[in-house]
Order: sequence, then C-alpha cells, then structure tokens
Amino acid sequence: MDLVERFGNEIEEINEALKDALMEKEPRELYDAARHLPLAGGKRLRPLLVLLASRAVGGSGYDALPFGLAIEIIHNFTLVHDDIMDRSTLRRGVETVHVKFGEPTAIIAGDVLFAKAFEVMHKLKVDDSIFRRLNGLLVKTVKEICEGQQLDMEFEKRTDVKEKDYLTMIEKKTAALFSCSTEGGGIIGGGSERSIRALANYGRYLGLAFQIRDDYLDLCGKEEEIGKRIGNDIRDGKKTIIIAHAVENLDDEGKRMLQSVLGNKNASDDDISRLVGLLKEAGSIDYARERALFYSELAAKELDKVEGKMEVLDDLKEIANYAATREK
Ligand code: IPE
Ligand code: IPE
Ligand code: MG
Ligand code: MG
Ligand code: MG
Repeated sequence: MDLVERFGNEIEEINEALKDALMEKEPRELYDAARHLPLAGGKRLRPLLVLLASRAVGGSGYDALPFGLAIEIIHNFTLVHDDIMDRSTLRRGVETVHVKFGEPTAIIAGDVLFAKAFEVMHKLKVDDSIFRRLNGLLVKTVKEICEGQQLDMEFEKRTDVKEKDYLTMIEKKTAALFSCSTEGGGIIGGGSERSIRALANYGRYLGLAFQIRDDYLDLCGKEEEIGKRIGNDIRDGKKTIIIAHAVENLDDEGKRMLQSVLGNKNASDDDISRLVGLLKEAGSIDYARERALFYSELAAKELDKVEGKMEVLDDLKEIANYAATREK
C-alpha cells in the first residue's frame, strides 16, 4: 500500500496544520532548528492513525487533528534526540538537526518541540475530563519512550540481549507512541471502552511490527527510500531482533565475524554487506521479516473487537500489513 496515494488528503491536512503550528521566529536559529526535521517530510503515520482510529468509532477524524499533531511533534522531538544518541547524520534524506545546527541547539530544539506538543494539544475541543485523560496518556507515553531509549542504549554495551529483552525495549521506545495514537483517536472519536482498549492493543502490536521492520530496513533497505544511512545499527552495536537471533544461530566462526563488525564505528559498507550475507545464511533476516508479519497479524485481529465502521477498520487492517512490509 502507498500511504500517500491512499491517504493523500489526510496527509496534506496534517502537513498544513503542522507548518502553521511551527511558525515561531525568534531566536531564529532555535526555531529554524526545531522546524528542520518536521518540515523535511516523514510519513505522518502516527497522526494518520489518530484520525483513522477516531473515524473508526464514529468521530469526524478532524476533531482529533490537534492530538495527531501533538503526537507527530513528540515523535519529531524524540527523533532529534535519537539522532544525537545514535550518531546518525542523515534522516528523511537530509542532514540531521545536530549535524546542521550543532548538538547544543539540537538538544534545545528537541526540548522546544516537546513543549510545542502540549501547546498544540490545547486546540482540542473536548470536555475537560477527556482532555485530562488524553494529557495523562501522552505524559505516560513520553516516559515510556524515554525508558525504552535508555534500554536501547544500555543494550549497545551488552552481549547477552535476548529476544524478549528486545521486545520489552521496542514496546517502550516505539510501540507505546503508536498505541497512544490509536487509543487517543478512539477516545476522541467517542468509542466504547472495549473499542478503545482494542484500538490501543492494535497500535501496540502494529508498533512492534513497525520497529522490527525498521531494524530490517536498516540493513536491507535502500538509502534513497528510507532516507537514513544503511548499517547504522550495526556500527552502533544495536541489539536488534536480527542480532538476537544470529547470536543464537551462528556457528563459532560466524559469531567471531559478527563480533568484529558489530559496534565498530569504522565498519565499511563492504563489511556491512558481508555481515548481511552471513545473517541471511543464518536465517536471521527472514526471521525478522516473519516476526514483523506475526505482530502485524496480531494487530489486525484486535480490530475484530472494535465496534465501528467496517471500511475504516479495513483501512487500519491494511496499515497493519503495511507496517510489516513497507520499504520506507
Ligand atoms: C522512525 O519512525 C523511528 C522509529 C520508530 C523506527 P518513522 O519511520 O515513522 O519516521 P518518519 O516520521 O516517517 O520519518
Ligand atoms: C526508534 O528507534 C527511535 C525512537 C523511538 C525515537 P531507531 O533509532 O531505530 O529509529 P531510527 O532508525 O533512527 O529512525
Ligand atoms: Mg535509536
Ligand atoms: Mg536512531
Ligand atoms: Mg532504526
């Protein structure tokens, strides 16, 4: 599925509103840095999910837009800081914020985006009790992302990370925000508690699939498509599901080869593609593809519990599959 082809109108609406929300001018350097990543593109999948989840349970969709924008801005804030942590130089096909503006300005640009998210939330036209619920959900989610990001970094130094540790980590760093998107959309759309719970679970499973596919694309994607540098995770020593599988399945010689490249900042593109060959042979790459599909199917199943509009639920089903099969 091509997201833009299918949801072009929604994505355009999100982009316009995002541009308006990020108009501040002074100090120029700070706001130029804060706008750099949000206005450089991005799939806008999370705000799209907010709109669709709201629509699925009978809302108009656009009532939920401020919540979608808040989530997209939070997402961008975490990416600005993530790129500092991961030493990434390229995102959305352009220089990362810290490369272009320097680390100190990138840190504060991330902070100002974080504040902006809560400012934008105030544009929601909902009852006070609903506002408090959404606010609480967002705060809890940001804490979860921070916990996941900390685990992600700690895992770089460990060699004994198991698949279940990895799943705990990505549930926090990535799936929590997807779950927040679909749960929030369900709340704003006026869904029943049962539907809201099912939408939250849908988002969580989808988020697991999405991150596993992200880890796959970091090795097997095309730089022009994903807009990030291939092999970054290997150079950083990240413990992805692919690595967790390989450690259990490589022979001793394979393990030695893995240890010589994993976490080596200076690994060449050739080193990376040799390692990808080895990981393919060990079945670790196929394993990741399969696990992404597995979680996307669990996500789709949750939708059967949502009392809502069939055609929107079908769109959400397709998006679950997209999360696990996308090329960018
Ligand atoms: C990147 O998210 C960070 C992850 C959770 C893997 P996206 O792949 O949604 O990034 P954009 O917003 O489309 O650039
Ligand atoms: C997800 O992990 C990042 C956040 C939750 C902020 P990654 O570090 O894999 O994301 P990319 O690959 O840099 O987009
Ligand atoms: Mg990271
Ligand atoms: Mg990263
Ligand atoms: Mg990644």
